[in-house]
Amino acid sequence: MAPRAPALLLAVAVAAAACVAASAQSRLGRIVVSGVVPCNTGTLIDVASSPAFPDAKVELRCGGGAVARATTGRDGSFQMEADAVAGALGALVGACQLVVDTPLAKCNATLPAAGALVSSLQGPLPGMLGSVFRLAPAGFSFRMN
Ligand SMILES: *[C@@H]1O[C@H](CO)[C@@H](O)[C@H](O)[C@H]1NC(C)=O
Repeated sequence: MAPRAPALLLAVAVAAAACVAASAQSRLGRIVVSGVVPCNTGTLIDVASSPAFPDAKVELRCGGGAVARATTGRDGSFQMEADAVAGALGALVGACQLVVDTPLAKCNATLPAAGALVSSLQGPLPGMLGSVFRLAPAGFSFRMN
């Protein structure tokens, strides 16, 4: 057992060095997620034909944890920013979703007081400025929870 320990330490050190080198190569950037939250139930709700959801709390959740938050304005629009590694953008788009934390009953009393609007992300949208990647909701759908 004793002779193996230095070899194991060396392997760990090499792996750690490789990680540092890899992260130095990945470009760090910002993502900006913006869109409009509809005051409606349904699947892939069309924001153009739905009333807007003002004062809605929107979270960007990746693997369960919230990485960014925003509150919609009077027109239902929101914008939020988060750090991103450029090379991991595809994974981020696949692993994250937007969740509206405010119940629909807040924008229309006849709509449910439970459940939430959720949307996956689409992007990056064209028109990238520097290292800012623009993402948008792929479409909000109502989920009971
Ligand atoms: C509230 O929701 C109901 C049910 O979807 C709809 O018929 C009504 O038009 C909505 N009211 C407003 C003010 O948007």
